[in-house]
Amino acid sequence: MEDLKVVIGSDHGGFHYKEAIIDYLKARNIEFEDVGTHTRESCDYPEIAKKVCEKVNSGEANRGILVCGTGIGMSMAANKVRGVRAALCGDTYSARVCRAHNNANVLCLGERVIGEHLALDIVDIWLKTGFEGGRHKRRVDMLE
Ligand code: RB5
Repeated sequence: MEDLKVVIGSDHGGFHYKEAIIDYLKARNIEFEDVGTHTRESCDYPEIAKKVCEKVNSGEANRGILVCGTGIGMSMAANKVRGVRAALCGDTYSARVCRAHNNANVLCLGERVIGEHLALDIVDIWLKTGFEGGRHKRRVDMLE
């Protein structure tokens, strides 16, 4: 596994999974920063997405994870930030291939859509999978 520094954030709709993912990261000694939200109070997902994306773009982190109720709002917000390639994943195949082919640097998850164990499997695969480069690099470069 590459040297990982993860930045993670959620709104209230993704708070529980954010905490579960943090437990996963701690158990594996993976460096991370939690940008909130820190309570179950209602909050605005675009602000959290912006914080995570800024840290990925600045190099403070090399991977970002965003959780909201559906993962949709977070992925919409994240993909508006130049340099960010956010992938909303609800299955492990997409988690693997969005890394291998799309070099996704932000993972989005929907707490109200998928089960917690599937979400953690997605995180595990997404963090462990490297970018294949080659023909995929040309296509990813075209995104920019
Ligand atoms: C919050 O109720 C919900 O709208 C949010 O978590 C997310 O699903 C938005 O896309």
